[in-house]
Amino acid sequence: MADNRFVVFTPSGKRGSFPNGTAVLDAARALGVDLDSVCGGRGLCGRCQILASEGEFAKHGITSTTANLTDVGETERKYADRRGLKPKHRLGCQACIQGDLVIDVPPESQVHKQVVRKRAEARPITLDPVVHLHTVDVTEPDMHDPTGDWQRVRVALEDQWDLAIDGVDNSVLHRLQKTLRDGDWTVTVAVRQGHHAVGIYPGYHARALGIAVDVGSTTIAGHLCDLTTGDVLASVGRMNPQIRFGEDLMSRVSYIMMHPGAENELTDTVREAVENLATEAVKEAAKKAEVAVADIHEVTVVGNPVMHHLFLGLDPTELGGAPFALATDAAITTRADELGWSFNSGARVYTLPCIAGHVGADTAAVILSEAPHTMDAMTLIVDVGTNAEIVLGNKERLLAASSPTGPAFEGAQISCGQRAAPGAIERVRIDRETLEPRFKVIGCDLWSDEDGFAEAVAGIGINGVCGSGIIEVIAEMYLAGIIDQDGAFNGTMTRTSARVQETGRSFSYLLHAGEPELRIYQTDVRAIQLAKAALYAGARLLMDRMGVDRVDRIVLAGAFGSQIDVTYAMVLGMIPDCDLVHVSSAGNAAGTGARIALLNNDARREIEDLVRRVEKIETAVEPNFQDHFVAAMAVPHKTAPYPNLANAVDLPARSQPASDSPGRRRRRKRG
Ligand code: FES
Repeated sequence: MADNRFVVFTPSGKRGSFPNGTAVLDAARALGVDLDSVCGGRGLCGRCQILASEGEFAKHGITSTTANLTDVGETERKYADRRGLKPKHRLGCQACIQGDLVIDVPPESQVHKQVVRKRAEARPITLDPVVHLHTVDVTEPDMHDPTGDWQRVRVALEDQWDLAIDGVDNSVLHRLQKTLRDGDWTVTVAVRQGHHAVGIYPGYHARALGIAVDVGSTTIAGHLCDLTTGDVLASVGRMNPQIRFGEDLMSRVSYIMMHPGAENELTDTVREAVENLATEAVKEAAKKAEVAVADIHEVTVVGNPVMHHLFLGLDPTELGGAPFALATDAAITTRADELGWSFNSGARVYTLPCIAGHVGADTAAVILSEAPHTMDAMTLIVDVGTNAEIVLGNKERLLAASSPTGPAFEGAQISCGQRAAPGAIERVRIDRETLEPRFKVIGCDLWSDEDGFAEAVAGIGINGVCGSGIIEVIAEMYLAGIIDQDGAFNGTMTRTSARVQETGRSFSYLLHAGEPELRIYQTDVRAIQLAKAALYAGARLLMDRMGVDRVDRIVLAGAFGSQIDVTYAMVLGMIPDCDLVHVSSAGNAAGTGARIALLNNDARREIEDLVRRVEKIETAVEPNFQDHFVAAMAVPHKTAPYPNLANAVDLPARSQPASDSPGRRRRRKRG
């Protein structure tokens, strides 16, 4: 034991004694330290980098110094010349212990590293993909000991990686012998779930890719990820080509009902679009890294129930009417070749489970991303679209429902509404005294009252108002007294500003006088009131069922949710009152959830288990829905107090008669 050296690994704190000359990687493996390796200690992958600490470590009774590692040898020097090594970094597979040491494993060298997310409040992603690469040296065949090539690969994986392989794809067997010989008996095997071989490459191979796909009814978005680092290599999106069969989901279901067999056409269309998206993502990533479509081993897919069914080739007709029965609500794993994809026949495609007939795998993915089930905070998640999916709960209990908001939030049913695209008004402010508006359009950073605005928008035009703009203009109209709590125009405002005009038997507000002229009519206000009342009523029903009258945290998910200013969403009463500090937009949380399921094996079990425990509420049959809906038509609400909102925004006094002159209104002051 005299030659044994004491080694402590940080941050894990794992420690042990090893004979002089033990490679750091071997010591780490012996202690179960989270130190990565793909090449199996050949000095090729660089995943095993470590740092030796300098100093006295009284707690451990040792003095650690970089001199207690062997000098840099030829293999390590070659690696440094080829790929570069940061100062003081050593390859753990090459550096050997020759004295007491404290060894730091930096985050990038940890197998289960945390993948960086932009939002601080978001749940971290721990890297633990389903597919890992393992490089092995395989014994050459021998006349005296006849065994199959695959059997010797299996033995190599067991001896060199401690893996018990019990299955192999035919596609691997098909190219096994040539690959072994091309690699001079060194191959890299892609192993799924630690026991099934799904890919094989000659020699050392560094890349295993996965793509996380969110199949929306309008757009399809994909994140191409490196499964060995968790990095997003490319993010791409395209329109869902199914749009030619119908703008919204129900029109596509109707198309299928009227054209028997058309579901196959819609299935082919969406599958082809996802395959093209994957190819496009690899092309995009190839601009910066050496990647190929054949490196895609894993695909995760999320989508609403209709998209989920069509993608899997399941007839969605039953989802077109009550009781909205799903063909299956389970997670499904299929293979790329079963979907007709050619990029890597053995790639597995994991589709997340659905929650209910109206609450799909996209919502399951949002739950994974926002993780309400891991928190004490009572969290309300709202994914706003034609149907709003609503989730409420915390680590004790989760409820989910959908509410029929209709397409108003997306600009449909609004006279000047349009999709979020260049030229659409997305931000609006109205002067409280003059009622003059100023606004921003997508594609221009200037406000309309700033110098240079006219020139800046000359090329894109001012064409309409997108969802976030509609919410802001109506909320601002309320704050400026142009409409009252019931959403009715205040006719006396025609005397204050020429912007408010009598239009037929009602009034309108002139937002933009150019070509096209953009006006907000009473019918537009009503359409938004109906949509927001449905959303609020759905949330309120879940709160009733949960037995709470306030929530601690609100997350607005989805493309539209990420564009909304949360304060205006609350002014309008789309969501219940909450401390605005705890109200956030999550962006494409469904896409992030798909990425989590791609990068973390346990997340799949977690969501599969969780969707079984989510309590599904059917808003259509809840007797209180109508009462909540009627009360929620008012701005922000007929009766519910909004104390947090009142602290942040000067709200008009409530419960004034509709005919009351706004000039006489008293305002609540900022708290
Ligand atoms: Fe691959 Fe060390 S294990 S370089």
